[in-house]
Amino acid sequence: MSRLFFSSSRSWLALILFLASCGAFTVAQSTPVDANGHPWWQHAVFYEIYPRSFADSNNDGVGDLNGISSRMSYLHDLGIDAIWITPCYPSPQVDFGYDVSDYENIDPMYGTLKDFDRMVGEGKENSVRVIMDFVLNHTSDQHSWFLDSKSSRSSAHRDWYLWRDGKAPGHPPNNWISIFGGSAWNFDPTTHQFYYHAFYPQQPDLNWRNPAVEKEMLDTTRWWYRRGVAGFRLDAVDMLFEDPELRDNPVLTGTDTLGDPNMEDKYNRNLPEVHEELQKLRKVADESDAVLIGETWTATAAQLDRYYGQNGNELQMPMDFMFMMVDKLSPPEFRRQIAAVDGTHGWPVFVISNHDRVRSYNRYGDGKNNDAIAKLMGAFYLTLRGTPIMYYGEEIGMENNDPKRREDVQDPIGRTGWPAEKGRDGERTPMQWNTTPNAGFSTTRPWLPVPPSYKTHNVESESKDPSSILNLYKKVLGLRHSNEALLEGSYTALNEDDPNVMSYLRSYKGKAILVALNMSATPQKAVFDLSKQGFGEARLQTLIASHAATTKGNEVALEPFGLLIAEVGR
Ligand code: GLC
Repeated sequence: MSRLFFSSSRSWLALILFLASCGAFTVAQSTPVDANGHPWWQHAVFYEIYPRSFADSNNDGVGDLNGISSRMSYLHDLGIDAIWITPCYPSPQVDFGYDVSDYENIDPMYGTLKDFDRMVGEGKENSVRVIMDFVLNHTSDQHSWFLDSKSSRSSAHRDWYLWRDGKAPGHPPNNWISIFGGSAWNFDPTTHQFYYHAFYPQQPDLNWRNPAVEKEMLDTTRWWYRRGVAGFRLDAVDMLFEDPELRDNPVLTGTDTLGDPNMEDKYNRNLPEVHEELQKLRKVADESDAVLIGETWTATAAQLDRYYGQNGNELQMPMDFMFMMVDKLSPPEFRRQIAAVDGTHGWPVFVISNHDRVRSYNRYGDGKNNDAIAKLMGAFYLTLRGTPIMYYGEEIGMENNDPKRREDVQDPIGRTGWPAEKGRDGERTPMQWNTTPNAGFSTTRPWLPVPPSYKTHNVESESKDPSSILNLYKKVLGLRHSNEALLEGSYTALNEDDPNVMSYLRSYKGKAILVALNMSATPQKAVFDLSKQGFGEARLQTLIASHAATTKGNEVALEPFGLLIAEVGR
């Protein structure tokens, strides 16, 4: 019997190989894994692009896909392996693309599907993969599904969204609050029911309990994989499911910046069903060797750990926002967060800024030493064990440029919440390429203004300055891609009682890199005893350092906000 099984499985194999060579069916790409078991995305550096603001090829004041294509070699030279583009699908742009009206097309403002294909091709030539943003929790209220859904209670798409009667006339079904302010329920006078929207009213939530919705969305991911995307960043994944009984959320004390009561999102966030759905998305992603990145807001490492899936079968890359939320230069807090994510069973994903948060240049900067601090932060999170996701402009020290007047605000929450909440325009301003007007982004007035600091903080000027933030990023990224200890090494925190100098060792097969970062405004010395790590008489050989950093034997001296990356020799 075993002989029979063996011979018949061999003939099956021959048939499969024959059909595959004829191109009779698609075989899933084999997963490229290195000798140490790392798939490509664990060694990659990701870079988030806000397409409205990266490069404007047709000079209409808004960035576009051809603009991104034209900058692919810049990204390659910087050391970027994959770009995540925030939504560029057709959209009324109420939430600047996060309100999608067609999942299988490109908004004309950004170009065409042909431009998209060209961009993927240009990326391939430059070894830069393309990741799309998948807005799966909600659509635009202008999506044909929603237009049909709201047309009558018996429409084909009625159950694709969450429609409910009010508790009483004029009263929403429950007390849930929209993240963007006010009740999360909107009354539709045509069909006399409320629909649920976790974000703006123009972003109705899809009903993921409806198998037709699930099927359509999974098929959408397949459609893009076939077009050559290397994965998705999944938007607002924790919001996919709502309590079927729509129970009221517990009300907490106080109000938020939009004036709504604080609430525990017990019944409309992080429901267990989210994980079942992620497993299905992952199964489809695996067919194409694609990577799933999650917008995963978590309060604890245990919650973050769950997003990897119990058998590693959910997200490969849930973002660790607890790390990003350490909003001060605090070695003890950073050590705690790194240890927490290191203790999960997944691969860490570090981010320090994105299109929803004030730029890292301002959040960590002290107003006087921001450039030194920007370099320090780059040297920090780009040398940790894990995959970093950079945000465009971070590498040149772009600062937030918040609107000065309410009437200038583009992001609707900035108008609702003014002046306590100015919205997210400040972190979404055009990329600063050079010193010409509008920072070389566009010859027309851009949709958001560039800050005056573009004169000094731009790609062209910084490329020529060996001590610029840009050149520091390039050096660190270059080292990260070539040094085995940084690529493969474990992470060990050093001098854990030091409140000022953040230091750690990345070691691999008897080789190690030591990173020491002075997170204080005063000069600091740190002495390293690496005998426990197998380096008795450690000698440090500087690879990258700030201008006044010095080493003597196993001692490091750092100026305020100084940094050192050194190879450990015996
Ligand atoms: C995510 C996006 C944010 C958007 C929201 C609604 O949080 O990052 O920009 O406004 O989802 O789609």
